[in-house]
Amino acid sequence: MCGIVGYIGYNQATPVLLNGLARLEYRGYDSAGIAIFNDDKIKVAKSEGKLANLKNKIENSDVSGFVGIGHTRWATHGEPNERNCHPHTSENGKFVVVHNGIIENYDVIKRQLREKGVKFTSDTDTEVVPQLLAYYYDGDLLKTVSKVVNELAGSYALGIICEDYPDKIIAARKSSPLIVAKGEGENFIASDISAILDYTKTYITLDDGDIAELKADSITLYDKELNEKETDFIVTDLDVSAVMKNGYDHFMLKEMNEQPEKLRGLYNDYVKDNKVVVPELDKIADVLDNCEKIYAVACGSAYHTSIAGKYVIEKLCRVNVETDIASEFRYRDPILNERTPVIIISQSGETADSIAALRMAKEQGAPVIGIVNVVGSTIYRESDCVLYTKAGPEIAVATTKGYATQLMMFYLFALYFAQSKGTVSEEEIAKYCSELEMLPAKIERLLSDTKTIEAFSEKYKGANNFFFIGRNTDYAAAMEASLKVKEISYINSDAYASGELKHGTIALIDKGTPVISFCANKKLFDKAWSNAEEVVARGADVVCVVSEKDEDKIQQGYEKIVLEDVIDEFSTMLEVVAMQIFAYYIAKNNGCDIDKPKNLAKSVTVE
Ligand code: M6R
Repeated sequence: MCGIVGYIGYNQATPVLLNGLARLEYRGYDSAGIAIFNDDKIKVAKSEGKLANLKNKIENSDVSGFVGIGHTRWATHGEPNERNCHPHTSENGKFVVVHNGIIENYDVIKRQLREKGVKFTSDTDTEVVPQLLAYYYDGDLLKTVSKVVNELAGSYALGIICEDYPDKIIAARKSSPLIVAKGEGENFIASDISAILDYTKTYITLDDGDIAELKADSITLYDKELNEKETDFIVTDLDVSAVMKNGYDHFMLKEMNEQPEKLRGLYNDYVKDNKVVVPELDKIADVLDNCEKIYAVACGSAYHTSIAGKYVIEKLCRVNVETDIASEFRYRDPILNERTPVIIISQSGETADSIAALRMAKEQGAPVIGIVNVVGSTIYRESDCVLYTKAGPEIAVATTKGYATQLMMFYLFALYFAQSKGTVSEEEIAKYCSELEMLPAKIERLLSDTKTIEAFSEKYKGANNFFFIGRNTDYAAAMEASLKVKEISYINSDAYASGELKHGTIALIDKGTPVISFCANKKLFDKAWSNAEEVVARGADVVCVVSEKDEDKIQQGYEKIVLEDVIDEFSTMLEVVAMQIFAYYIAKNNGCDIDKPKNLAKSVTVE
């Protein structure tokens, strides 16, 4: 979604802002703009489309100065055109604002201001912020900002500059991510640290309701009532190389190739002497001991990890797991209490629906376990217990290492829980641990020889519609595979539980319909195989994704992707990596914008 960056210091602001916005491109955007203090006047430059358009525009104008704010916009209210592009300016030109989030009561404010004669120039919800600031302004910048944000309903991360204060940037946040960061004689605001890693690693994530005042040499933090707050900066260990392609054609390819290392890291952190040791979960041992049922709630791919996790947890721990999509869960009045822990899974930790689900769960007394990749994110901070996935920054919109590390966390959680409940013997736990230990090397080998999969991607690049089918852990893989193909290659596809085909969907199978049949779960191979035969009988073009142990059972004439053998419970992992490769090359063959697919945002911070 929208990206914000702001700079105040003794260097030229424009290059810092453009560099920061480029680092935030991954969040998804359709227009971009900056505002810079230039001789005590604020100059604004904006442009529809990619950042390159903005850069061209700036080259031909005189936008220079040492203080500025910038924005990449992902349209919610109003078309993605220059008029609606941020920064937005008050009618009197005094206030200039960038915003991420949604001002839910913007129409009421807009109507009231219009009645007072204020003229609006955009269709956005954001414009009410600079207009309201100008309307209330009495010379006291902080008090005016505080008054305005207290009137806003919805979510906001705001960067504000005011013509009367050329030495200040004001930042404010509620339910949308925003950090303030400290450099040497320069300070920053940003949607996330990746925007400014070239300049600093020291930052604070603003709490809901916080207002920050930045000058070149100081950062002062206030709560909603403008009481000054402690500034507890943290220093990230991320390096700028973590947000660069490092020789890969795409971030997605780089991130796919980082998976073995990231999974190895988690294994080494949590498996000791063939036992799973998770101190974070020790702290909620009582909750787990007494739990009636577990909910696992998330969006998109993170939700798909919960499906794979459910099969493993139920099998190993004999506890009911109910999975749900966060946007459904939050409005369905689920039965929650202190004995129903809720696992919220999120790479970004800022997904609006997942945050709402988390808050609802907590309000009803359910303990929340967050499986999260971003330290300091809202889900990270608000969960009762955090399982940090340590995947590092994920830039490609299509998640790969984010998914793999979440799935690994589910596997570790299931083993930990089974161990503490005694539902699985020590010998079996040791066997599962050794399977987990071998997974990264298997993924490495899969990623190092992608020719077979690439050939399938070439063959099917012109397909209009894919079917991904499977049962149990294979079904979990099918769901993620389908999303991967859809989001980066724009080819329609769906995932079906194989056994459901006969109940309607099989009517859609025609001659040549591509069906990817997941059969790596050996216990269910025969069932999966007979479902594959059913679609072949109706003309489908089937590719089976199969374990090397069952390879020979695939009859001649059938296409196959053969995977190294993995214990059934963990087979989803290899299947999904194979499908990441498949989706990547289809998109590449079709010339799609792999890292930044159209209409999508990396982190969905609005409902
Ligand atoms: O940051 P989150 O894990 O909460 O994001 C959830 C989904 O938006 C995300 O997984 C999305 O589906 C990905 N683009 C899939 O590749």
